[in-house]
Amino acid sequence: MTARFGVIGWPVAHSRSPLIHNYWLQQAGIDALYERVPVPPEADFRATLETLRAAGFSGVNVTIPHKEAAFTAVDTRDAAAEYLGAVNTICLTPEKITGHNTDGLGFIDSLQDAPERLTGPALVLGAGGAARAILGALIDAGIGDIRVANRTRARAQSLLDLAPASDGVRVFDWDDRAVAAQDARLLVNTTSLGMQGAPALDMPLDMLAPDALVADIVYTPLTTDLLARAQARGLTPINGLGMLVHQAAHAFALWLGHKPQFDTNLRDQLHKDLGEA
Ligand code: ATR
Repeated sequence: MTARFGVIGWPVAHSRSPLIHNYWLQQAGIDALYERVPVPPEADFRATLETLRAAGFSGVNVTIPHKEAAFTAVDTRDAAAEYLGAVNTICLTPEKITGHNTDGLGFIDSLQDAPERLTGPALVLGAGGAARAILGALIDAGIGDIRVANRTRARAQSLLDLAPASDGVRVFDWDDRAVAAQDARLLVNTTSLGMQGAPALDMPLDMLAPDALVADIVYTPLTTDLLARAQARGLTPINGLGMLVHQAAHAFALWLGHKPQFDTNLRDQLHKDLGEA
């Protein structure tokens, strides 16, 4: 019987997860299909999961607006999901439904596509769900000097209060983000600034270390103004595609036992799909 996997969201038509997972399933010769599962925000999420399990699904990803509902609907959760209060990957077995969060690991893996090693100081811009996942992952990766700047300072402060260990984390005012960038070897933009249809991010790059990695977690567009400026200065730009693909690879591993590669063929397909061949 063909195994079933999918992504639950609303809207979900734009999701690139089917392209990524079906590529890997086919490559591994696994008889399985990864589908889009549109589920409206008001749906009973536990009932949805049980319906999918009965229909033969053994794993699903969860995207906007269901990550928090998924957190409460599952039977057990991993440590990353507990910390984030959000679930992006679910394993469905006849015995139980488990919730995971692979966003933070996906981000860390996306940096390893770059030749430089991940080191601090690191500056994270923003304080939403993505910032929280990245902050937790940087702490877990042992980065000792992490700075967070967000327009609403109180939100950044509350990220820190919830972090697994916050000794090495400092909050900066949004207006002091250039000061916070002093000698940083990693800059991560998790705000919506720079996304298609949003204003550009006003962030000077001259305070960064000369070998800094500059990451933007959005992938529409693939090359944001921030990344183009980083490249022009000789810094290493990292677009959001790596985080997307690597969080997917961790989900695949949870379901099927091995972590697939982000190879050039998949990269080319995604670039083409995003209109930047
Ligand atoms: P997600 O959960 O997807 O990471 P979010 O919760 O919508 O996203 O957060 C978006 C981030 O972009 C927030 O950090 C937000 O700052 P606030 O916490 O002050 O709202 C940031 N952001 C959005 N528009 C911004 C702007 N014009 N200037 C600075 N930061 C902005």
